[in-house]
Amino acid sequence: MKKLLIALCMLPGMVLASSGGHLDHVAIDLSDKESLKRGAQTFVNYCLSCHGADYVRYNRIGRDLGMSDEEVTAMISTRDAKGDPSKPGELMKVAMNNDYAKTAFGTKIPGLSVIARARGADWLYTYLRTFYVDESRPTGVNNIAFPDVGMPHVLWELQGLQKAKFVTETDADGNEQKIFEGMELVVPGKMKPEEYDAYVADLVNFMVYMGEPMQMERKSLGVWVLLFLFVFTVIAYLLKKEYWKDVH
Ligand code: HEC
Repeated sequence: MKKLLIALCMLPGMVLASSGGHLDHVAIDLSDKESLKRGAQTFVNYCLSCHGADYVRYNRIGRDLGMSDEEVTAMISTRDAKGDPSKPGELMKVAMNNDYAKTAFGTKIPGLSVIARARGADWLYTYLRTFYVDESRPTGVNNIAFPDVGMPHVLWELQGLQKAKFVTETDADGNEQKIFEGMELVVPGKMKPEEYDAYVADLVNFMVYMGEPMQMERKSLGVWVLLFLFVFTVIAYLLKKEYWKDVH
């Protein structure tokens, strides 16, 4: 019964994770608070300078992950122009102004609070690991999951730089197609490949959580609702038996 309940509660997540083409799979575990904390730190350090997460408040994360306001300020706050840390009750606003972003990157930079719901965890995991050197791009890199993306490889110091290997195949109609074969690390980063994968997995875990902070509460609430319905059915059945006892 418990397994069934858990499976039922996980169904929406499973549907989400199954979308997309050739993507690398990442295991999401929203109950792993240490992973979510590491992901939150990475997000604040490396992403919030360009992307906002406008629906999420710092102290909401703190509450969900069991952190005090002091810990929130110490671990995941951002600094304003005067160097003061963000207040725990503030929304995760982006540091960069939108007009500047447009000039610098030629595009509006999307907010990331619900990106995991739009793209799926596997897509994000693949995207953040498949930047590769491409001199023809203004940023010097391209991406397998998001071809010609405007985003620079902000984690390159950690991952290093990699070259993508493609083979050209001709399909039945005679069109040439570039098929991605694999990566070759040309400049090693500070992390070993497995370390970087785990690091990105934490970040994606956090982004999935951010997309739906209510998910954790909802899952535990769902179990209680189902239990209630079950108990209620038993009572209703016993009542029915009691009422009809004398009729037969
Ligand atoms: C220097 C600025 C900058 C930083 C820092 C940055 N990004 Fe981006 N990001 C961009 C830009 C610009 C785009 C838009 C790309 C486009 O539309 O071509 C983008 C796009 C994206 C997208 C795709 C959004 C979509 O439309 O589907 C994701 C996901 C993303 N970024 C995640 C991240 C994460 C996670 C981090 C932190 C590790 C990060 N970004 C850090 C500039 C940045």
